[in-house]
Amino acid sequence: MQRAVFHAFRNERVPVFTSLNAWKCANCRAALVPNGARGYSVVPPSTDSEEKAMLDRMLRVDHAGEYGANRIYAGQMAVLGRTQSGPLIQTMWDQEKYHLQKFDEILAENRIRPTVLLPLWNIAGFVLGASSALLGKEGAMACTVAVEESISEHYNSQIRALMEADPDRYTELLQLIKEFRDDEMEHHDTGLEHDAESMPGYGLMKSLIQLGCRAAIYASERV
Ligand SMILES: [Fe+2]
Ligand SMILES: [Fe+2]
Repeated sequence: MQRAVFHAFRNERVPVFTSLNAWKCANCRAALVPNGARGYSVVPPSTDSEEKAMLDRMLRVDHAGEYGANRIYAGQMAVLGRTQSGPLIQTMWDQEKYHLQKFDEILAENRIRPTVLLPLWNIAGFVLGASSALLGKEGAMACTVAVEESISEHYNSQIRALMEADPDRYTELLQLIKEFRDDEMEHHDTGLEHDAESMPGYGLMKSLIQLGCRAAIYASERV
């Protein structure tokens, strides 16, 4: 039976003889999907190298951010896990685990390499989380407010860029980023509700952490 199929990662139609068990292009061995089926999760197949570079950069930095957030909450839990704040921090960490899992999947599906800086974010994130938690619950929450505000702003700028580029084309990706942005804003609000601003030197601490976040975003977009 002849079936119309196309590459899973390129919207390229390749009519070939195939059975349901043979989902590989005879020429390039790329994975194939039936005509009309979705060959991607939330990222549309790139039409040119410029779009591919733009999406790779965006998804790589998002993955790095979620990875760093996970390490921050891991550091906070190492210090405050057994205190009254433990369950609250764990709840936020669980959401970060889900965010990271999603970006892990997206990077793998779209064959995007993660940033080479992951080992640095591994250590820096944990150290930031643990050291802020050593200042007490207020320190941990001040750190959460600073980081989550930066991540929310970062997602908002991506939402604006995708809306300007082509909202119909990026509907599913926009939906995912908006959902995660809402979670980050909730974490930010949780930090404020749990006395972040009572931390002595809150303003300075927040500014310094946000400077670090901006540097991390800048670097993770590039390498
Ligand atoms: Fe997140
Ligand atoms: Fe978050």
